[in-house]
Amino acid sequence: MNMYEFNKMLGAVLGSALLVMVVNEIGNALVHPITPAKAAIAIGDGEADAKAEKSADTVKENAGQADLATLLAAADVAKGAKAAKKCTACHSFDKDGKHKVGPVLYGVVGRGKGTGTNFKFSAAIVDKGGDWSYGDLDAFLADPKGYMPGTKMAFKGIAKATDRADLIAYMRQNSDSPPALPAQ
Ligand code: HEC
Repeated sequence: MNMYEFNKMLGAVLGSALLVMVVNEIGNALVHPITPAKAAIAIGDGEADAKAEKSADTVKENAGQADLATLLAAADVAKGAKAAKKCTACHSFDKDGKHKVGPVLYGVVGRGKGTGTNFKFSAAIVDKGGDWSYGDLDAFLADPKGYMPGTKMAFKGIAKATDRADLIAYMRQNSDSPPALPAQ
């Protein structure tokens, strides 16, 4: 084998190694590993329980049909706080926050729809009426325009039920007296 061939071969080997690495990275980014919801045998160990609860989210998300009460009971407020970054371009979640494009969301859970003070809500939200129950918030955040045609909220919605539950749990914390969580 001459030097030129050897170099070509080396290049091919390095090239495929790099390709494998890249594909692997992409694979990891696209696919969330699935872990079982609960240990088959319940162990009275706080850490194991916490772990089981965390992975329960993954399974519920995949099952796609766990009900809201269950999702809220297992919701991760810290994740919700992170997800809320999608909202902060338009909303403040702080008690003494200011309205932006959207109204301040402090205390919104359980509040009358479109009743925050000093914000010009759309007719759509005012006409919808009623309080922001957990279920209504979930439906609204899944598909704002679908739930409330004519709303001024230009946001496409959050597809994953677990992500919405985490976010709602975060909103619930940003409140003086949020309504009790729905019974499971
Ligand atoms: C592009 C700006 C924008 C983004 C992003 C946005 N919103 Fe809104 N949001 C609005 C506007 C505007 C309204 C007022 C809707 C109306 O009057 O129809 C609103 C209304 C709401 C309401 C009802 C408030 C009330 O007092 O009745 C909730 C709840 C809400 N948004 C939650 C969220 C959450 C949670 C996110 C992030 C996942 C989010 N919004 C992202 C602009 C936005």
